[in-house]
Amino acid sequence: MKVFQWIILCLALSAVWVGCSRSINIESIDYDTLSEAELNEIIETGLIAWRMPGAIAGGAACVQCHAPDGIDLAKLNYSNFTIRRRGSGHAAPGIETLNASKLEDIVNMIQALQVKYSFDSVDPREWIPFQPGELPIEGQSNKERDAEFGGFLKDIGLILFIDWFDKEEDAHQQAEKLAEINLFDMPVGIRMNLWSEDPYYSSSAGMLGDWLPLAPIRPSGSREYLFNELQFAYTANAGIKELSELLSFVSKSDFTTQAGSLDFLSYSKYKAQLIAQHSFRLSGEKGEQGSNSIEEILSDLNRTDPGIGNPFWDIGQFFADSPTIEELNLPESHIRRLTGETFQDLALPWLWLGWMADPGFQFTECAPDTNCVAILSDQLTEHELHYHRMFMQSKAAVEGRYQ
Ligand code: HEC
Repeated sequence: MKVFQWIILCLALSAVWVGCSRSINIESIDYDTLSEAELNEIIETGLIAWRMPGAIAGGAACVQCHAPDGIDLAKLNYSNFTIRRRGSGHAAPGIETLNASKLEDIVNMIQALQVKYSFDSVDPREWIPFQPGELPIEGQSNKERDAEFGGFLKDIGLILFIDWFDKEEDAHQQAEKLAEINLFDMPVGIRMNLWSEDPYYSSSAGMLGDWLPLAPIRPSGSREYLFNELQFAYTANAGIKELSELLSFVSKSDFTTQAGSLDFLSYSKYKAQLIAQHSFRLSGEKGEQGSNSIEEILSDLNRTDPGIGNPFWDIGQFFADSPTIEELNLPESHIRRLTGETFQDLALPWLWLGWMADPGFQFTECAPDTNCVAILSDQLTEHELHYHRMFMQSKAAVEGRYQ
């Protein structure tokens, strides 16, 4: 080899080396030191990949199941390893699709979002979104947890006689006390769902009860264009108006495809997920004064469009109606694990959350000829959570009356 060929080879190798060390450098960026503009640039780059079709579920993009900008993955604090592990299943060769290097843009975007919103570090397998009082009441059985809950009601001076409103003076005092209770602060014996129950570490039916849709939300034809436009509008300005337009669109979508009831579940989860991620966003925004509770978000949304309803409740109702495994038309990977499972037990946490989000049942549509209080009462009775039931009935009555 001639000398000048050597030089060219060396130059080429050092170019590759510089290229490689560049991408290694991105890894070692200290995100905390970046300016808002730099963070936004990383997020913009990541969003392109986030919206690109991937290799599974007919080319679904991350955005068709997760938050419009992936803020859910940032709030839940999934590790880079976990994002790569999940993302690599979606990666496909080609320029138009999500490839392995584009996946790195997503990894970087999630880190930038974490810093931009200054989210706390949580363990995604332990932190339960919207668990009232942060942690569920512990105990060996529902009966034990219920007794503890009953003791707590007594301590705060609540006596829930069935006829409590008969004695007028007492009733008035009790009603005031009940009205003051913030459901999100009060620990209960019901464990809410994790954001994700990944088959990587879970093999229970809880996999189906988590927050994320198994089927992508992908309207066909010209509606796809509109859906994307609404996503862009929300990402550019995450206000309640943009959120309600996105939710209205999804509420009006026709989900009766061959995937059957799995699609209903996926659409309801997608809507629930959109509301939850909006609340994560508000909780993280520095100096944000507005409300970040899903109760207020749900009520604001329904005042804009009553068709949005209560997706948390809809998920609970879906499981309470006890679908069979055949009806669900699950992907192969899930069928193997879930054979013989019943899905009834997945109902209660979602119904309770649905109630917390709408304590007076103003926006919740229940099955015809049934009232929502009766549906939740039956579930609580079945689970031997009698103090919880009495509390719910009394609080719902007070909230319904004070509307
Ligand atoms: C078809 C819907 C769908 C699409 C598209 C999708 N996800 Fe998910 N994702 C899920 C579901 C459902 C879960 C919950 C776990 C489960 O049931 O497998 C999840 C969980 C995750 C988790 C948490 C894993 C854990 O360990 O708990 C990460 C991280 C994730 N997804 C990243 C991505 C990325 C990155 C993309 C795009 C490349 C993507 N997802 C696209 C549905 C989807």
